[in-house]
Amino acid sequence: MLILGIESSCDETAAAVVRDGRKILSNVVASQVEEHKLYGGVVPEIASRRHAEAISGVVSQALTDADVTLKDIDAIAVTHAPGLIGALLVGVNFAKGLSVATGLPLVPTHHLRSHIAANYIAHPDLKPPFLCLVVSGGHSHLVMVEDYTRFTLLGRTRDDAAGECFDKAARAMGMPYPGGVHLDKRAQSGNPHAFALPRPQVEGSPYDFSFSGLKTAVLNQLHNAAQKGEEIDTADLCASLQFTVADMLGKHTLQAARDTGAKTVVLAGGVSANSGLRAHMTALCEREGLALYFPPLSLCGDNAAMVAAQGYYEFLAGNIAAADLNAAPTLPIEYR
Ligand code: KG4
Ligand code: ZN
Repeated sequence: MLILGIESSCDETAAAVVRDGRKILSNVVASQVEEHKLYGGVVPEIASRRHAEAISGVVSQALTDADVTLKDIDAIAVTHAPGLIGALLVGVNFAKGLSVATGLPLVPTHHLRSHIAANYIAHPDLKPPFLCLVVSGGHSHLVMVEDYTRFTLLGRTRDDAAGECFDKAARAMGMPYPGGVHLDKRAQSGNPHAFALPRPQVEGSPYDFSFSGLKTAVLNQLHNAAQKGEEIDTADLCASLQFTVADMLGKHTLQAARDTGAKTVVLAGGVSANSGLRAHMTALCEREGLALYFPPLSLCGDNAAMVAAQGYYEFLAGNIAAADLNAAPTLPIEYR
């Protein structure tokens, strides 16, 4: 079965064709990052306009690259939530138009479920149930993936997402948007134990995260040094922040694995590209005898192959939208 996936929830316009949820035939991503860099973050109005300009060409390219036409496609999967509403609407309306014109079923697909599904493409043997840490620019979730379309949210961030924490800290150190990848690079030459940073806990919620205090602590280090006219070793600060975030994420994930008896841990989302997090989780899971999976770097960030992969399983589960499908800026991963 061939699924055409469409993604426009943030600042990448993407389309892809995937066979049976596992094999990529094409994967086209048009990134707007260069333009948003000028403003230090995503400007929603610009994102919507760029999606509207790019989407038709991106979808055509995905079909061409896969060497198929719409006649070969079995269903259209589109990210309908969560994300920037104006950005999501471009993908949803384009997919609706295609669906009406072709008579193909329209499959609404949750962005975070799709990030998880990137792992199905990369790891043909991976099947639910498993414990998944979904860490992106907007979300930090600890989720039990009971089945391809059944999820139990165990924990989430109460304030900033891990990616947001990295991006804000990176920006304060003068790195361009999105700063996570630059921070990762700079951390490689730093000492992860140079700065003792706080690890906030959420009272009574052992699986929840809180990163805003940690972010503030990093900003305070920078401001204090600037006020005193002191040089700060940003490689050390990046390494310390990266280590602290990985440690917090790792501790909660491990606790959840012990409590639930999960034997498999999966990482997903843009932040799963972080080298410190990958190394830390690899060591932890090895020590605990847990199987660990994460996507290749090419599938960590936003793309539509992951949408088509999740869309395949949503389609099999009968999750087909009517013509009144709308986009939603927020939607729990557990929705039915
Ligand atoms: O999943 P994603 O592409 O978009 C959202 O759905 O939010 O995640 C983007 C986030 C950004 O915060 C970006 O800085 C972060 O992922 N990121 C990284 C790395 N690569 C991307 N954070 C830390 N280290 C990286 N190597
Ligand atoms: Zn994403």
